[in-house]
Amino acid sequence: MKQKTTILPVNALAPEREIIEQAARLIQGGQVVAFPTETVYGLGANAFDAAAVARIFSAKGRPANDPLIVHLCAARDLSKVAVDIPKIVFQLGEKFWPGPLTLVVPKAQSIPANVTAGMDTVAVRVPNHAVALALIQASRVPLAAPSANKFSGVSPTNARHVYQDLKNKIPLILDGGSTSIGVESTVLDCTNWPPQVLRPGGVSIEELRLFLGDVSVYEKLDKENQPVLSPGMLDKHYSPRARLYYYLSTDPQNYRSFFTNSFQNEVSDCQNIGVLIVQEDLPWFEEHYPALVKISLGSRENLDQIASNLYAGLREMDEKNVGCIFMHDFGAQGLGLAIRDRLMRAAYQVIQAE
Ligand code: TXA
Ligand code: MG
Repeated sequence: MKQKTTILPVNALAPEREIIEQAARLIQGGQVVAFPTETVYGLGANAFDAAAVARIFSAKGRPANDPLIVHLCAARDLSKVAVDIPKIVFQLGEKFWPGPLTLVVPKAQSIPANVTAGMDTVAVRVPNHAVALALIQASRVPLAAPSANKFSGVSPTNARHVYQDLKNKIPLILDGGSTSIGVESTVLDCTNWPPQVLRPGGVSIEELRLFLGDVSVYEKLDKENQPVLSPGMLDKHYSPRARLYYYLSTDPQNYRSFFTNSFQNEVSDCQNIGVLIVQEDLPWFEEHYPALVKISLGSRENLDQIASNLYAGLREMDEKNVGCIFMHDFGAQGLGLAIRDRLMRAAYQVIQAE
């Protein structure tokens, strides 16, 4: 159904009450609302209302077998959405909430099947953003919310991104500016011991390991030892329109030789080439490839900055009609693993370093 999409600016630190109430009325009326979190923008609906949740799937074009995260305003509401909650979940909540950690627990009857894609577990988190928290509180229900982008596209880190993807499909976007972390939450399955990371994200595996002592990692994430991967081998996700060539090394010298070679051979027919690079590499690219589209993601020394600028950078390449994007790896430490996971899925081709 076509509808007009309103964008309402809202103070990210001290959200205006009238604006939050207007959004909460939509949620209570079974509508969807896009809102900022500390990771990416979410598209929320009443998590207890199957018909409202169905609107999320249709607005995004998301397949029904992909479960949603339920957002709470406090850990004390866990018992409204989950049962048989392991003690470790409360301890993790105490330590990491509000924050970018999503915990998978056994679901309560109250959560309709379409939220969890028919599974008997539910993913839950308390976001660390005043607008998200105020909206959940004013709606008086938990919000089921995936990232507010078109299915399989790049997640939105500002209101404009949401508008580009979902205009005329949702009634309201709360515009609280750019999100700070820029990659999604870490998803941790707590239904077994040790807990298992299903998706790396804002809370690093090192932090979880330190806290839990033991944590396992979903095997598909451990791709470091894989041979050269070819297009189409991985689930397509987080993808820009342009072909992303992702070089699996952090070494600047190797990357430059790889780029020089690809430029002359593999992508010599590509009309408009873009590089998403670190600030430290800008002068070299300016000198050798003045005509390329270059976007700096920040300093190689600052992974927070790289993560925070990543999705906006990928989207800007599409806006500039780039045909081929080049990018290198950022290692597996801290946020580096979340960045790698997303680029692996976004890539047209992953190139193993020599
Ligand atoms: O940072 C975030 O997590 C953002 C903001 C809006 O909170 N949300 C987000 O949602 O990234 P989405 O739908 O794009 O990703 C949800 C992830 C998917 O990988 C999904 O498979 C996983 O959570 N998930 C949800 N429910 C699950 C469950 N019951 N068991 C295992 N994985 C689950
Ligand atoms: Mg998503």
